[in-house]
Amino acid sequence: MRTRAPRTVVGVSTQALASASGTFALGGDLIVNRLGFGAMRLTGKGVWGPPADRDEAVKVLRRAVELGVNFIDTADSYGPYISEEIIREALHPYTGLVIATKAGLLRTGPDVWIPLGNPSYLRQECEMSLRRLGVETIDLFQLHRVDRNFPLADQIGELVALRNEGKIRHIGLSEVDVDQLNAARQIAPIASVQNMYNLSARAAEPLLDAATSQGVGFIPWFPLAAGPLAAPDGPLQKIAAAHHATPAQLALAWLLKRSPVMLPIPGTSRVAHLEENVAAAEITLSDEEFETLAAVAGAT
Ligand SMILES: NC(=O)c1ccc[n+]([C@@H]2O[C@H](COP(=O)([O-])OP(=O)(O)OC[C@H]3O[C@@H](n4cnc5c(N)ncnc54)[C@H](OP(=O)(O)O)[C@@H]3O)[C@@H](O)[C@H]2O)c1
Repeated sequence: MRTRAPRTVVGVSTQALASASGTFALGGDLIVNRLGFGAMRLTGKGVWGPPADRDEAVKVLRRAVELGVNFIDTADSYGPYISEEIIREALHPYTGLVIATKAGLLRTGPDVWIPLGNPSYLRQECEMSLRRLGVETIDLFQLHRVDRNFPLADQIGELVALRNEGKIRHIGLSEVDVDQLNAARQIAPIASVQNMYNLSARAAEPLLDAATSQGVGFIPWFPLAAGPLAAPDGPLQKIAAAHHATPAQLALAWLLKRSPVMLPIPGTSRVAHLEENVAAAEITLSDEEFETLAAVAGAT
């Protein structure tokens, strides 16, 4: 295992660590460092309301950019609205950054997520995200869930209309299967898919393989299994200690090695965790280490 930076992240503000993860051209023209940041955790409990420490949330975002992160994932439904508002406060006018957002989920309370793919609602939420983020065009607009109560062609069709009007640049999907990706690709170019995927939860392998072969970005949500893969008493602790890395760093390095279209977006509300996670970009696993980690994590 080649590790250059994870040993320490103190005083690295002039280094762009995320660039060590390599780049990917989203939609063929938006070039991002593959290790990005997920902004869902910059909200309250149950992804509802403001975060416990808003100042720290702003610091997390600014530190991410200092460390070379230039791909940030959010959604209208995170808070709702809070995540996008904090991103604007911290990072507007987003020079050199790609901000991806999503629509298609209603929020009626903490931890409650209800799909709604009514095309008019998707348009409304695009308009509101444009306003909240303070941009004329959203770089990557993702359909958060396909709503089976509306034809896929109507949901994607509305995003195509928004793209044709210059309100969004690229279209992405979230929590889809291979058939849905292929059906959507019959309607419009799809720049990315975003599904749950990490060392211990790999149900999305077929989608990842399809995305890899089609050059579609694959954004794995829950890259740290929302915590357990990063835990000191978790399955990766022993092997991490042997390699002078942390469990979170190994989980992220494994994802980066898994596919060139992989764009992990670990989320955190703390600068210290952010620095640790970004430093994973500098870890290169051997093929043997990759296989060992896959076996140790006990995928389902
Ligand atoms: N498309 C979808 O349906 C969907 C669903 C869920 C999430 N997402 C996106 O995916 C992103 C990532 O998912 P996620 O944030 O839920 O899960 P995650 O990145 O796997 O894990 C985040 C959790 O792990 C903790 N953590 C982060 N780094 C750590 C470290 N180095 N050591 C110990 N703990 C650490 C965080 O707590 P602290 O805050 O204490 O660090 C947080 O609770 C989200 O932010 C969001 O943008 C998309």
